[in-house]
Amino acid sequence: MPKPKQPEQTSSGISRRDFFKSSTVGAVSTALVSGVHGEGSSVEVLGPGEVGIKLNVNGKTRRLRVEPRVTLLDALRSELDVTGAKKVCDRSTCGACTVLLDGKPVYACSVLAVEAQDKQIVTVEGLGTPEKMHPVQKAFVENDAQQCGFCTPGFVVACAAFLEKHPNPDIEDLKKGLGGNLCRCGTYDGIKKAVKQVAAEGGINA
Ligand code: FES
Ligand code: FES
Repeated sequence: MPKPKQPEQTSSGISRRDFFKSSTVGAVSTALVSGVHGEGSSVEVLGPGEVGIKLNVNGKTRRLRVEPRVTLLDALRSELDVTGAKKVCDRSTCGACTVLLDGKPVYACSVLAVEAQDKQIVTVEGLGTPEKMHPVQKAFVENDAQQCGFCTPGFVVACAAFLEKHPNPDIEDLKKGLGGNLCRCGTYDGIKKAVKQVAAEGGINA
């Protein structure tokens, strides 16, 4: 039986063959931008080479050069040596890379560094220090809410953001609010106790 023919052109006018033949992110982005916006569009096309960017990380302005394809997670860890956020799945499923972007928890593996410019980025290092821990960090220690520790920085950041929104959560709020973070060591009981302790002690701003 003859195979069905694939349509040669996408709705934006780019042929599928051309799309898959493009070997660099830059070539693909250029094709997409001109396909969507037309030639002579004022949309800025970045890359594929390195571009200079500025990131505000834990209250400090950091300048770096990255290719536009570089994720915020890789920029933090490999370029700026801010290694609290962990690279585990690298595809938005585990939450180990959670950081705050303008106060909202995001997976840093799924945000481009160039997109994070002009935003306040807070990692676990920005929440507190060993001498002056954030209430969530302190509660994690006191409730033994970690084992290997790989998921812990992301969980701490996610819990801090969660408690900001839900100062007195019940168990259902907890399941929903922290469902985007996974712990392969199964420390969920300790994490729940830590969150409950922070809520009982007056919340993250106590
Ligand atoms: S490393 Fe980003 S969600 Fe898993
Ligand atoms: S403590 Fe090991 S993955 Fe959570």
